Amino acid sequence: MTSRQSLTCQKHLFDIPADVTYLNAAYMTPILKEAALQGQQAVAGKLHPWETSIPDFFEPPARACGLMADMIGAGADDVALVPSVSYGVAIAVRNLPLLPGQKILVLADQFPSNVYPWQDMAQIHQAELVTIARPKDGDWTSRIIAALDGEVAIVACPQVHWTDGSCIDLVRVGAACRAQGAALVLDMTQSLGVMPFSVRDVDPDFMVAASYKWLLGPYSYGFVYVAPRHQKGVPLEQGWIARKGSDDFARLVDYQSDYLPGAGRFNVGERSNFMLTPIILQALEKLNAWGVEAIADYLSGLTDMIAARAGAMGLTVADKAHRSPHLIGLNFDGGAPDGLTAALADRKIYVSVRGNSIRVSPHIYNEAQDVEKLFSALEDIL
Ligand SMILES: Cc1ncc(COP(=O)(O)O)c(C=O)c1O
Repeated sequence: MTSRQSLTCQKHLFDIPADVTYLNAAYMTPILKEAALQGQQAVAGKLHPWETSIPDFFEPPARACGLMADMIGAGADDVALVPSVSYGVAIAVRNLPLLPGQKILVLADQFPSNVYPWQDMAQIHQAELVTIARPKDGDWTSRIIAALDGEVAIVACPQVHWTDGSCIDLVRVGAACRAQGAALVLDMTQSLGVMPFSVRDVDPDFMVAASYKWLLGPYSYGFVYVAPRHQKGVPLEQGWIARKGSDDFARLVDYQSDYLPGAGRFNVGERSNFMLTPIILQALEKLNAWGVEAIADYLSGLTDMIAARAGAMGLTVADKAHRSPHLIGLNFDGGAPDGLTAALADRKIYVSVRGNSIRVSPHIYNEAQDVEKLFSALEDIL
């Protein structure tokens, strides 16, 4: 039996009480119990700073970048640490060329951290921000490719739309961008860790993801992948730790013009992040051990169940060809009833409302019983 077939619900690794039905990973996930222990130890470590050694500044964050690189098929040096998606997108803005009259493509209702920076950039360069309308058939991929008219300099999009889980085929979009000479900037916050993705197949210019959702990580901790062709670019900050030889604390004022190799120059200041790094290390080790494909298989079993139950209640969902394995919108024509999430929360069932949809987002700690609880509550309330 392969590991893909053997993956089962991992709720025992999390501190989720039996009466809580948590189907809201797209909002944020719980961290692993083991990660919480490591995090508590890391906080206690600051009681005794004399025990923090110079390698502690460098080795754990490098390991975090290495684990992320393993997940996305990148080299360990191609990944840097960022505190947020907006920070990672700002790196892309700083390093991509844009001429007056050229276009930047984004999707309708895209998450603001991957829209505001492009609005600003377009205005500064007298370029145009083009928003792809939400396709009725859920096929974003064809609309993005059709919009690549030779004037598009940058496509900034996710792999999965944060509101309803509709998917973009990044392999096709990446190929189309390359063919047209457009740069591709990805916000993978709503899919990385639970949906297969490889920079080798997609070849984005920049990819950024926050870790506090599907990566089971802490808040204020994210990753940026920088394609080798941009690694000589300009970082947002000129901090000491991103410079060559920064591990020689006695010689930090022998100022260096060279940076760390690869994407090292793009790291956020204080990237050592002693308290949060142990948490993400636990999470990435687990996710990589389970395997992203196996997680996606497991979760698509749950979203298929959700889709079938929603259909039986007359709610519409994206068809299987265009929906993600882990995040699914149950669409109410004319909007979700007022107070629905509160009525569910009263029963300790947690989902989100985004636009006209209830957004249901299971992770590896969920099982069929959670789907049953959600739908029996919905049948009761509606
Ligand atoms: C798609 C997406 N990107 C990014 C974020 C978070 O952005 P930031 O890290 O800039 O706060 C979210 C949060 O909901 C999101 O859904």
